[in-house]
Amino acid sequence: MANQSKNFAALLPAVRADLVVEERPIPIPGSGEILVRNHFIGLNPVDWKRQVTGMFIASYPAIMGTDLTGIIESVGPDVTQFKAGDRVLGAADGIVSQKLDNGAYQTYTVVRASSASKIPSSIGLEQAAALPTGTLTAYLMLFKMLGLPEPGTDAPPSNSTLLVWGGGSNVGNMAIQLAHLVGLNVYVTASKQNHEYLRSLGANQLFDYNSATIVHDITQAAETEGKPITHVLDAISLPATLGPIQEILSKSSGKIKELAHTTPWPEELAKVDGINGDMVHGEEMWIKPDVIKLGAKVFNEDLPRWLEAGVIVPPPGRVIKGGLGKIQDSLNEQKAGVSNQKLVVEV
Ligand SMILES: NC(=O)c1ccc[n+]([C@@H]2O[C@H](COP(=O)([O-])OP(=O)(O)OC[C@H]3O[C@@H](n4cnc5c(N)ncnc54)[C@H](OP(=O)(O)O)[C@@H]3O)[C@@H](O)[C@H]2O)c1
Repeated sequence: MANQSKNFAALLPAVRADLVVEERPIPIPGSGEILVRNHFIGLNPVDWKRQVTGMFIASYPAIMGTDLTGIIESVGPDVTQFKAGDRVLGAADGIVSQKLDNGAYQTYTVVRASSASKIPSSIGLEQAAALPTGTLTAYLMLFKMLGLPEPGTDAPPSNSTLLVWGGGSNVGNMAIQLAHLVGLNVYVTASKQNHEYLRSLGANQLFDYNSATIVHDITQAAETEGKPITHVLDAISLPATLGPIQEILSKSSGKIKELAHTTPWPEELAKVDGINGDMVHGEEMWIKPDVIKLGAKVFNEDLPRWLEAGVIVPPPGRVIKGGLGKIQDSLNEQKAGVSNQKLVVEV
């Protein structure tokens, strides 16, 4: 990591263009904001999707990137929960604000204090860069969309099962851990090589999504346990995942059939009656007052406590050295597909 007092950014000059590293002014945090000297940037699939399609980009050049960790350089007015020098993780809101200062792909980023967490000393900055987006996305899917009881509230339903499809993904990793935290019976689909790790996170039963009998296997296991599948979190949300999920929910003897997915419903797939499904919108943590409040609780209070206690661990990551100039290659690698691995670029 270079020690520098200048700000450099990996700018996206136009749709489908490669990123270009250029110097730009160090941003100044406003009310309720913190300025972070980034040490690690976590890449998300939405980043390459924005680059390729222009989605969530109002004008060019743009600075993409949401997940970051680093040291607070300064705090804006009205920030009481942080001070300069704190080690933090953050989710930068450039996708909503459309301001260059709020993109993670630079040396210094302005982040809303409500979307940042102090990192306990036991967790490395490089590890924590895998947490921000996955944590809030999984939290919203489980406890806001699927309506499961939030941590510290009611007991979880004892006679039903949550299915997490795509446990090897970043969102899936966090969903398994949060579901385990509240005591849910959790079934998980993932490639075989990830089963042992995902069991260590709290998955009760694991299934290989490449198996031809997966619908039967999951249905049979849940009905035999007397805990039919009632809630499904699909972290992947392709026809190849939503298709079998609809079959599983249709066959389930459970009265509740709730489904949360991460990307828009595929046009080519018909929806099955009797399933209550919806897509998560993580960006609502910067838009809707109730989600802003919830996000602030998760980031400022819950996540640091869970990390400190060791009940939540960062999803696995791989550090890429070489600075902002390495982000483009890393985005290309992520687009090609990663397995149970968040790509984290050292700044
Ligand atoms: N709407 C929102 O607010 C929001 C927020 C966050 C993410 N997302 C979206 O959610 C999706 C997941 O994001 P992410 O960062 O968690 O992804 P990721 O970590 O890059 O996902 C990679 C994993 O996907 C798994 N996978 C691929 N195809 C699969 C299939 N057919 N069945 C089961 N697992 C499969 C692989 O698991 P194995 O290694 O086990 O094969 C791999 O480990 C992306 O499309 C992202 O854009 C949306």
